[in-house]
Amino acid sequence: MRYSSVAIPLALAARAAAVESDVWAFGNGFYTGPPTNAHITRATWSLVPPDVPSNYTVNNTDDEVWVSLWIGLSSTAGDYDADLYQPLLNWSPDNQSQGCPAPDDEWCVAASTYTPDGQNGQAYVTVPADTQVDFEVYVENDKVYQVVTMNGKTVSKESDALDNPLLYLYSGDECYTGSGDCGTLQSYSWNNLTIHLSAADENFGDTLSLYSGSSSNGLTTSDKGKTWHTDAIKISKDTFATVSDY
Ligand SMILES: *[C@@H]1O[C@H](CO)[C@@H](O)[C@H](O)[C@H]1NC(C)=O
Ligand SMILES: *[C@@H]1O[C@H](CO)[C@@H](O)[C@H](O)[C@H]1NC(C)=O
Ligand SMILES: *[C@@H]1O[C@H](CO)[C@@H](O)[C@H](O)[C@H]1NC(C)=O
Ligand SMILES: *[C@@H]1O[C@H](CO)[C@@H](O)[C@H](O)[C@H]1NC(C)=O
Repeated sequence: MRYSSVAIPLALAARAAAVESDVWAFGNGFYTGPPTNAHITRATWSLVPPDVPSNYTVNNTDDEVWVSLWIGLSSTAGDYDADLYQPLLNWSPDNQSQGCPAPDDEWCVAASTYTPDGQNGQAYVTVPADTQVDFEVYVENDKVYQVVTMNGKTVSKESDALDNPLLYLYSGDECYTGSGDCGTLQSYSWNNLTIHLSAADENFGDTLSLYSGSSSNGLTTSDKGKTWHTDAIKISKDTFATVSDY
């Protein structure tokens, strides 16, 4: 089945509007949640990063563009007041502006959490081209743990207090336009996504919403609704909106 919806999650629109003087663009993506009478206790997924964006523009090197790809978990669908546990990939034509040690044609990755008081993030680690990155986010004793792995080795991890039970999981193709625009991002795929719930919800799969250019066979369960899985959610090639589109 192919799900689709035109709406960008409130979340992202709110985040975009919250920073008045800067312009943010969000590309293709998906979200899922909330479960009925349950919360998310664990999620795992993988990604082989696409090529870094092409045809981007930077008009002033003091105001660089950057692009971030992530799946995050939160108690809300993007409320600015809620924490978002979002291990993320980041790329900028000026790696130094982001504290990313990767060369310009590779991404960095780090465990990271958005909080209303700012971003708690770990140091960026280079993702060598064509390398699979594995992500795990889980809740234990009111803490949220993020573990980022490459080739079986943990490369970044973080734990933060859980602000509220996790009800939503959603992706972001996030572009900070800086003094230019983010150009074109090639297609890629969030793979092997598994979501564990605290209690069975046989209808959780129906909450998957794919907006603009994303597609998937959908979430399926083999234990009557406690655990949900999809092999892939494909995010199609996308040219980010430019400043003049706003
Ligand atoms: C970059 O822009 C050029 C000129 O507009 C175009 O021919 C090319 O297809 C673009 N490349 C990508 C990856 O979008
Ligand atoms: C940015 O990448 C270049 C290689 O392209 C590397 O020499 C340099 O050290 C990197 N900068 C930082 C801040 O890591
Ligand atoms: C960047 O420069 C190009 C070419 O001069 C221009 O078309 C574009 O509007 C500029 N973008 C911004 C954000 O100023
Ligand atoms: C999919 O994820 C599960 C849980 O993390 C893992 O055990 C399994 O090896 C992964 N499968 C592939 C094909 O990577």
